Amino acid sequence: MPLLAIETTCDETAAAVVTRSREVLASVVASQEQLHARWRGVVPEIASRAHVERIIPVVDEAIRRSGVARSDIEAVAVAVRPGLVGSLLVGLTAAKAIAAVLRVPIVGYDHIAAHLYACRLAHGESLPYPFVGLVASGGHTSLFHVRSPLDLERLGGTIDDAAGEAFDKAASLLGLPYPGGPEIERIAREGNPRAHRLPRPLVADRDRLDLSFSGLKTALRYLVRPPGAPADTPHPVGQARADLAASFQQAVVDCILAKLELAIDRTGCRAIAIGGGVAANACLREAVEAFGRRRSLGVFVPPLSLCTDNAAMGAIAWERLERGEDDGLRLDVTPGTDRSRRPR
Ligand code: KG4
Ligand code: ZN
Repeated sequence: MPLLAIETTCDETAAAVVTRSREVLASVVASQEQLHARWRGVVPEIASRAHVERIIPVVDEAIRRSGVARSDIEAVAVAVRPGLVGSLLVGLTAAKAIAAVLRVPIVGYDHIAAHLYACRLAHGESLPYPFVGLVASGGHTSLFHVRSPLDLERLGGTIDDAAGEAFDKAASLLGLPYPGGPEIERIAREGNPRAHRLPRPLVADRDRLDLSFSGLKTALRYLVRPPGAPADTPHPVGQARADLAASFQQAVVDCILAKLELAIDRTGCRAIAIGGGVAANACLREAVEAFGRRRSLGVFVPPLSLCTDNAAMGAIAWERLERGEDDGLRLDVTPGTDRSRRPR
C-alpha cells in the first residue's frame, strides 16, 4: 500500500504516491515559475497563495494518476523544513486534513535530506552509505556527511547566497529570464569559460568547507556594468554575453568542486551524491563525474525530474514509517534555510 507525499517548501506545489518498495506511482509538480518570473525571484506571499489554490487539485491529480483508491493510502508524508513559512503551512495543513480524514499516520520529513534521497530512489541499493552529499538549489547549498537516509551531518555550505540564487541573479544581470540556471547553462554552451577571471571565494581556504557566492555575483555585476556606468547600460548580448555566462558558470562549478574534494578528503567517503535544482547543471554534473573517475569514487546523480523540487523524494518518509513512527496532528513546520542547521 502506498504513501501520499506532499511538498510545498518553496514555489512548487507537488504531490506523489510512492509504494513501500519505493516505486513512484505518480508524481505531480505544479510550478509557479511564471508567477515569480517578473520579480526574478520567489515572492513568499505570492507562493503561499498559489499553494492554497493548487494543493487540492495537485493531490487529486497525483492520486488519480497513481490508480490507487483513496482508501488504499497507508500514510501521509509532508516536507516540514526548511522553507518559507507560509508555503510550508499550506502543505502541512493539507497533509493533516487528509491524514485525519483517512485515519492514517502522518510523518514530516526534511526537504534537504529528501533531495539526497532522490539519489536513493533513482539508484536503489547501489547508492552506498556513507557518502558525501551536495544539495544545491535556489534556497540552499550545503555539503553533508550522509551516514544513512536520516543521519546527515552538515559539513559546510554557503555563507551567503545559494548557488541557484547566484545563477538567478547572474541571469538577471545578463538580461536572461527567471529561473536563471537553465538559461545561463544554455547561453554558456557558446561561451569561453576562461574569457574572464572571476573570483573563486574561499577556495584557497582548505580549513573550511564553506562556500560564498555573493562576491562572485558582485564581480559579474562590475563586468556587466563597471562602477560609474549609467544604470541604463544595456545588457551584454551575443558572444560577450556567452563568455560572461560561461565564465560565471565555471567559477561556481570550480568553487563547489573544490569543497566537494575537501569533503571527500575529510570524511574518507567513497561516493558522492548530488541533488537540488543546480544538480541539473550539465557542467557541474560533468565536473563531479570527472572528479569521481579521477579518484575512483561512485558518483550518483538523480534524473532531472528528481533534481528540482518534487514530492517523489518524500519517499524518504518510508524510512520513518518503517520504524513505526507517527508525528500525529501536533506536527509543525520549521521554516528557515538549511544554514540554520549548524555544522558540527
Ligand atoms: O531545487 P529547486 O527546484 O528549488 C529550490 O529548492 O530552490 O532549485 C531551483 C534552482 C533555481 O535557482 C534554478 O536557477 C536552479 O535551481 N537551476 C539550475 C539549473 N536548473 C535549475 N542552476 C544551474 N543550472 C541548471 N541547469
Ligand atoms: Zn529544494
